[in-house]
Amino acid sequence: MSSLYHLTTHSGLEPLVIRELKNLHLEGRRTRDLAPGYVEVESCTLSPLLTLKTIHHILSVRNDVTTDTPWTLEVIREAAKACEFPELVSDLEGSMRVTCKRIDKSLPFTSETIQLEVAEVILGRFPYPVKLKDPKYLVRVDVHKKHLVISLQLTHLSLSKTTPKPYHPVTAMKSNLAHSMLLLADIPLGGTLMDPFLGSGTTLIQAAKLSPTFKLIGFDYDEAAAHGAQLNVAAEGMEGVDIRCLNALEMSKHFPWHSIDAIVTDPPYGIRTSKQKKYFEFYLTFLAQARRLLKVGASLTLVVVKRYSFDDALNTIKGFQETDRLQIKLGGFTAHLIRLVYVGFPGREEDEPKKNSEEETCP
Ligand SMILES: C[S@@+](CC[C@H](N)C(=O)[O-])C[C@H]1O[C@@H](n2cnc3c(N)ncnc32)[C@H](O)[C@@H]1O
Repeated sequence: MSSLYHLTTHSGLEPLVIRELKNLHLEGRRTRDLAPGYVEVESCTLSPLLTLKTIHHILSVRNDVTTDTPWTLEVIREAAKACEFPELVSDLEGSMRVTCKRIDKSLPFTSETIQLEVAEVILGRFPYPVKLKDPKYLVRVDVHKKHLVISLQLTHLSLSKTTPKPYHPVTAMKSNLAHSMLLLADIPLGGTLMDPFLGSGTTLIQAAKLSPTFKLIGFDYDEAAAHGAQLNVAAEGMEGVDIRCLNALEMSKHFPWHSIDAIVTDPPYGIRTSKQKKYFEFYLTFLAQARRLLKVGASLTLVVVKRYSFDDALNTIKGFQETDRLQIKLGGFTAHLIRLVYVGFPGREEDEPKKNSEEETCP
């Protein structure tokens, strides 16, 4: 018999969670009633869900109630009473914590009030000690616009939280975002993947988990980052990864042209001056460099934080076709995941094994 699960991720990454589920022969759904960042799936076993790399948490749904009228504490208590927790029935040694995520901010109660109401009902049935840190059972209440979902959160630590790395700068990307970008990039098996804004190396580490067949190249102009990424890659037991200290805006000097199957990268969010024009120049130079390195038909997948400057650059330069664009929430701000394919253009610079320092001419 299958059970219903809700999976959580960054808002906007739902299509990539659904893609990852599809690779496991499971059918994920976004429903209109669920808030962004949630995907619903039915599965007979938990084990395939635990292998997912695009998500944060797995919630085993125990009650899902809807309403067209405002929520009352009475309705919330009744919803808690109707929950089934068969695994708790024969467990006398458990401990519990109830958390609440109040997505509907218009709700007239605080999260704490909802937590207390639900905890009182459930602890009345299963008198466990309350344990705020590492409880055995984590009951969670998610209040969506018209849905109240009570579930057992099966992942106490987010699946996107990796083991501590030797080098972990504040700018390090969450592993589920890197994995989502790699799925979006759709890299051919055995292909050469490059991350020119490498940071701590999250993209390459996730790429090796996705397929050991990829040839991996990464660089960063900051020596500490390039060295740190080397340490991180070594700590993962990865061998043969080409990591260097290089400027991405001059990368075509250092690699054979049209030799790369995919670039997947997370460019800096704040470039040294925040004037819009600087972002335009930055994106334009980077796209021109990427165009030299990518094979025809290869993809460039990146996080874009300045959409208008990026679009101006993309409209200025020839040779790219946009295939995907997802709006995502990264912490407090909005960004876009964009996938482009290099399609070539009439009179394009011919394939050459290596070119040196001449200035890029755009478009
Ligand atoms: C947002 S961080 C990348 C984070 C990375 N995905 C991770 O998980 O750690 C951007 C990185 O780009 C590097 N960077 C900025 N400008 C660069 C350039 N012109 N060439 C190469 N690296 C650059 C920064 O040093 C920083 O490490």
